[in-house]
Amino acid sequence: MAGIFAYAVIFLITVVLYRLLRREKKESQGRAEAELPPGSMGWPYIGETLQLYSQDPNVFFAAKQKRYGEIFKTHILGCPSVMLASPEAARFVLVTQAHLFKPTYPKSKERLVGPAALFFHQGDYHTRLRKLVQASLSIETIRNLVADIDALAASALDSWDGGRVINTFHEMKKFSFEVGILLIFGRLEARYREELKKNYFIVDRGYNSFPTNVPGTPYKKALLARKRLSKILSDIICERKEKRLLEKDLLGCLLNYKDEKGEVLTYDQIADNIIGTLFAAQDTTASVMTWIVKYLHDNPKLQEAVKAEQKAIRRLNEEGNQPLSWSQTRNMPVTYKAVLETLRMASIISFTFREAVADVEYKGYLIPKGWKVMPLFRNIHHNPEFFTDPQKFDPSRFEVAPKRNTFMPFGSGVHACPGNELAKQEMLIMTHHLVSKFRWEVVGSRSGSQYGPFPVPLQGLPTRYWKESTR
Ligand code: HEM
Repeated sequence: MAGIFAYAVIFLITVVLYRLLRREKKESQGRAEAELPPGSMGWPYIGETLQLYSQDPNVFFAAKQKRYGEIFKTHILGCPSVMLASPEAARFVLVTQAHLFKPTYPKSKERLVGPAALFFHQGDYHTRLRKLVQASLSIETIRNLVADIDALAASALDSWDGGRVINTFHEMKKFSFEVGILLIFGRLEARYREELKKNYFIVDRGYNSFPTNVPGTPYKKALLARKRLSKILSDIICERKEKRLLEKDLLGCLLNYKDEKGEVLTYDQIADNIIGTLFAAQDTTASVMTWIVKYLHDNPKLQEAVKAEQKAIRRLNEEGNQPLSWSQTRNMPVTYKAVLETLRMASIISFTFREAVADVEYKGYLIPKGWKVMPLFRNIHHNPEFFTDPQKFDPSRFEVAPKRNTFMPFGSGVHACPGNELAKQEMLIMTHHLVSKFRWEVVGSRSGSQYGPFPVPLQGLPTRYWKESTR
């Protein structure tokens, strides 16, 4: 019996290998002369997925770059992929030849966010939606949001006071969620905000779980919560239409849109882009803010300098009786450099995914149609050629602007982050309140990251916070 089983397994493996070889041969016929980049495709089907996930992904990428150079091939998560670790290559994919590379996400994630969200698209639809999202994130809008963000940051920090252990990342997520709501809906009724928050956090929990329709699993719960979110959004939209409110927030921009033929956006298009923007805005900003707390904690001299800058502003604002002004947020040079260095060091978006829509040649190498293409932002941000002593947290390096295309925490090209100014504003305002009023102590394990999927300090950086005057 065991013998028959062994023969069956050998037979199956032979058939699979034969088919793979034939497919590879077929695919390579008729292609340009260019060769595939160097690298290893690992095992059939699983490729190098295990190697990638059994260690820190950044170590995997860095080791590959060391071995093969700025462009290499691999096979991860069931996809043949080409990884690119130089500024020129990232620019090629994201900017100059962006039309040859489309965004690509797993279908299970698209279902949760909503397939009409702009970042899943390319071409006319993407351009149209992007203009609307950008309009809601204009400098003018952000300027008008400063007082509200200021109040949200102050109230978030007040709730951490007292020395309890706080999961910094979780609390930062609550704060960035509130800012996202503000951007999208302006001042929203509390009952809607609470309902959105409850369901959004269920979707968020299911986003990185195994996608299955089995009832009771986090993914299935997330799908159900996503349905409820659509219903809440449609209630908000109906109410706004009834009241004929013409707001300039993101919902207003999406509702007021008409194309040249007078067509408006569908409910689904509006809902998917609202949830999509919340998704893009929340974890990203919260992760970076958590790293700011950590780096300031670990670098006491820098913390003192940032404190001095922010306390001077607080004194001008009558010890916080006046809110921060827009011009004050634009004039925080020490804090701003610390934010930039945090974006570089943490590189929370280590890379992005695209898919080649045709066979593409880059520097004599072939990137075959259908392969995934991944510009590796973190490798670029941690390359000593562009950032001296890259593992050192040193905000003063930003006294000189980085070389072109070497600093891309917000991506580059047609899909570059439209929320970057808002994100920076949130980080500056949060830091202002943190350092000018609080002291904090990180609890427990001090180094290391966890991925979810963005890197955050271990366990979300458990920390005790105290108002300075009470200690
Ligand atoms: C520190 C915080 C943030 C970081 C590091 C960040 C980073 C990025 C990056 C790297 C991309 C490009 C991804 C790609 O090319 O595949 C992106 C896209 C995007 N971001 Fe952000 N982001 C942040 C905060 C925000 C905020 C606050 C918002 C909105 C309020 C936002 C909205 C978006 C949207 C809508 C896209 C998709 C743009 C498109 O496809 O055209 N992001 N972000």
